[in-house]
Amino acid sequence: MSTIPPSFTIVDHPLVLHKLTLMRDKETSTASFRTLLREISLLLAYETLRDLPVEQVEIETPLTPMMAPRLRGKKLCFVSILRAGDGLLQGLLDLVPAARVGHIGLYRDPVSKQPVEYLMKLPDDLGDRVTVLVDPMLATAGSAIEAVRKVKEAGARDIRFLALVCAPEGAAAFAAAHPDVRVYAASMDERLDDHKYIVPGLGDAGDRLFGTK
Ligand code: URA
Repeated sequence: MSTIPPSFTIVDHPLVLHKLTLMRDKETSTASFRTLLREISLLLAYETLRDLPVEQVEIETPLTPMMAPRLRGKKLCFVSILRAGDGLLQGLLDLVPAARVGHIGLYRDPVSKQPVEYLMKLPDDLGDRVTVLVDPMLATAGSAIEAVRKVKEAGARDIRFLALVCAPEGAAAFAAAHPDVRVYAASMDERLDDHKYIVPGLGDAGDRLFGTK
C-alpha cells in the first residue's frame, strides 16, 4: 500500500474505479479512452469543487418564490497542462461552461527529465479565481510542480490540482513543493519504472488520447 500525502485525495467511487480499469486496458480504443477521460473528469471534479461557496438568492419557481443556493462570487479557471490535460479539460467545461481556461505547455527533456516551457497563456485575474490545474499523469511531478509555480507567480492563490493516476514518488515531491495545493486523483499507483512511466499506469496518456505514438 503506497503512502498518500495528506494534501492528496484519492476519489474512491465504483464508477471512477470502473472507468479507470477500462482506460488502463491496452485494448481500449482511442475513441473510448477519450470518452472515458472526459467522463471520469466529471466525477473527479465533483470532489475537487465540493467546497465552492454558495449564496442564497431569491427566485420564483412556477409555483412559489423561494430562496435558493447558487455559486457565490468565486470564479473558476481551469489550466490544462498540455497536451494530455486537454482530455480532462473537456469534461470540466461541460460542467462549468463559463470558466476561463489557461494552457501551460511543458515537455520533459528526454535526457535531464526536467520540464521545459514552450507555451504559457493564462487569464490576468487568476488571483480572483479558483484555479484548477489538470494533468492526468502525476509521474515525477516535475511538470506539475513547475506549472503550479507558474500560476502562483501569475497571482493564483486558491489552487487545486486534478490528476487521474499518481506515482508515490511524484506525489511526495509535489506535496513537499506545494503542501498548500490539494490534489484529487483516481489512483495512487505502485511506482515509476526506469523511463519514469507510472506502473501499472495506463501508458502515455497523451498518445492514448490523441492516437499518436
Ligand atoms: N506521462 C504519461 O502519460 N504516462 C506516464 O506513465 C508517465 C508520464
